[in-house]
Amino acid sequence: MRPLIHKYIPKTTKEIFGQDDVVKKLGKFIVNFSKEKKNSALIYGPSGTGKTCSVYAIADELGYEVIEVNASDMRNAEQINQKVGNAIKQQSLFAKGKIILVDEIDGLSGHEDRGGIQAITKLIEDSSFPLILTATNPFDNKFSSLRSKSNIMEFKQLDYLSIFKILKKICDYEKIKYDDGTLRALSRRCGGDARAAINDLQALTQEKKELTVESIEELADRNKTENIMTALNKVFKTTDLKIAISAFESVEEDLNEQLLWIDENLPKEYTKPEDLARAYEMLSKADVFSRRIKRWQHYRFLVYINALITAGIAAAKNEKYRNFVVYKPTGRILKLWWAKQKAAKKKAIAEKIALKTHSSKKEILKNTIPYLPVIFKSREMRSGIINEFEFDNEEIEWLKNQVK
Ligand SMILES: Nc1ncnc2c1ncn2[C@@H]1O[C@H](COP(=O)(O)OP(=O)(O)OP(=O)(O)O)[C@@H](O)[C@H]1O
Ligand SMILES: [Mg+2]
Repeated sequence: MRPLIHKYIPKTTKEIFGQDDVVKKLGKFIVNFSKEKKNSALIYGPSGTGKTCSVYAIADELGYEVIEVNASDMRNAEQINQKVGNAIKQQSLFAKGKIILVDEIDGLSGHEDRGGIQAITKLIEDSSFPLILTATNPFDNKFSSLRSKSNIMEFKQLDYLSIFKILKKICDYEKIKYDDGTLRALSRRCGGDARAAINDLQALTQEKKELTVESIEELADRNKTENIMTALNKVFKTTDLKIAISAFESVEEDLNEQLLWIDENLPKEYTKPEDLARAYEMLSKADVFSRRIKRWQHYRFLVYINALITAGIAAAKNEKYRNFVVYKPTGRILKLWWAKQKAAKKKAIAEKIALKTHSSKKEILKNTIPYLPVIFKSREMRSGIINEFEFDNEEIEWLKNQVK
């Protein structure tokens, strides 16, 4: 099936949502190019917000031709001049003018591509056509010369209503069934990235042309798993401690789950015994700290744990393993652990009730706990119970889950 992000590339500026000001500004820059002081526009903003497609839509409306050069192909001035020079020389019959687009300059690295950055700088100075550069992060030092020679324009992260409108339009065209609430929920999930939102929509409605709440929940689980896999990949595959240390930053799983994921997947990645031994040494130290946190609430140990399971494990190998490994969720151990956690919560709840009702914990476990979810179903009773027995958030969560 054709990717929806291709099928629904905005053809006109009217179809670009949420970026009115910057699109207008960019259009003006192209139209008034001969009067502009700077030859180039540097447009920047997060991924999937319409940078590339806006350039094409504006050019189309104005009847301009876009000459696109890929930033990473531009290793030196010669290559650039050759590619751009040739394209400029060819007179197109119908186009009123040409725009040179250097897309995604982020890929240029400061060291190896110095030639490339210099070549683009030179292109800006010499160009008799509007030049447009795009970047997600243009504030890196290496781009300072490009910045000073360009009109800087920002594409903002898209607000959820714009995403909602984009998705709604696609659903209507594609005859995908949805209700507003579910589509709104999907629009909120993508972090203002229209490309991600459209791809999610396609993945969720591929089999059945209907968007359901359940499928969105599934997506949440899948993204979560993907996140932790990326984190594992970072730790296992790098020897650069700076990269490793931040690996778990955007991972939602709590520490125990992180430890379990590492435990499960470590032997698949580190196949040399001495590497594996060193890595498990780190993991076991992290585990010791984690127990101390649980027992004595020494939360400052979290920093040590993070260092051990990221940089520690990354540094445990002599060199990178080049083979490709599919990381798996923890199977057996995780299930056991969950079961234990659940049992522990149940016991904690029973203990609280036993204390207040002067009964034995055993009695409560047998005769009260099974009926608690029923009582918990009623809203009025619920708050009464929570207050009376002083259940904490985790216990309340456990009770809620029993009700479902
Ligand atoms: N503002 C928008 N309005 C409508 N559709 C959009 C918008 N932004 C993105 N899209 C959709 O997302 C797709 C990707 O957009 P585009 O390639 O322009 O993103 P980008 O900002 O250049 O991202 P990247 O930085 O990753 O290159 C488009 O094909 C289009 O379908
Ligand atoms: Mg782009």
